Amino acid sequence: MRWPPWLYQKPKVSLDEIRRSFNEAAADEEHFPSTIDPRIYHVQLILEYFGDLRTGRALDVGCGKGRFARILKERNPDALVAGLDLAEAMLRFVPKEIAPCSASMTDLPFANDSFDAAYATESLEHAVDIEQAIAEICRVVKPGGKIVIIDKNAEHWGRLKTPAWEKWFRRKELEKLLGRHCTEVSSRFISYWEDVEPDGLFLAWLARK
Ligand SMILES: C[S@@+](CC[C@H](N)C(=O)[O-])C[C@H]1O[C@@H](n2cnc3c(N)ncnc32)[C@H](O)[C@@H]1O
Repeated sequence: MRWPPWLYQKPKVSLDEIRRSFNEAAADEEHFPSTIDPRIYHVQLILEYFGDLRTGRALDVGCGKGRFARILKERNPDALVAGLDLAEAMLRFVPKEIAPCSASMTDLPFANDSFDAAYATESLEHAVDIEQAIAEICRVVKPGGKIVIIDKNAEHWGRLKTPAWEKWFRRKELEKLLGRHCTEVSSRFISYWEDVEPDGLFLAWLARK
């Protein structure tokens, strides 16, 4: 049996170790795909919430191979879409229209208020210092800018195999962290398909700074 996350003391894992793991994982196209079906609700929700970005700037935090950023850029060709990831090997797959950036989301190399929108899909769970990552994401988004976090629900912990550093989140936990920096925060259960009832594994947090 695995301990629920709020009781379980996470082992200390270095950023280098996490980077190394994802650099190796980049070769695994089956589990770390470089494309995503744009009809998947995780994508649709981000597109809908951000609306027309026009010539604005958006940041994909922990972008992996840039499968979400690719679609955001296709739908917003005049916007600047940047993809940030810890693993350089992931960034090699990012399409050329996306500005790549190799860094940790806990120490973003951008000035305050640089982006109109930022999102993190299944990447915050790897940040280890979650408070710091949320603070950094919020710092680089402009006042009035929008943030989406899509990640897994702590109440379903144990359902999937996870690396030692991974963390899933309770709904109120991330609402509270986002609420420290943002004026509007909400969360909802989502599934891959809009017309399929969510099974509780995935949550989306939406915030406006
Ligand atoms: C499960 S993948 C998700 C990738 C992408 N968001 C997607 O949905 O396709 C998690 C990604 O987070 C990245 N990552 C892990 N820790 C990170 C950190 N501290 N800062 C930035 N990226 C990180 C990994 O390198 C990996 O590419």
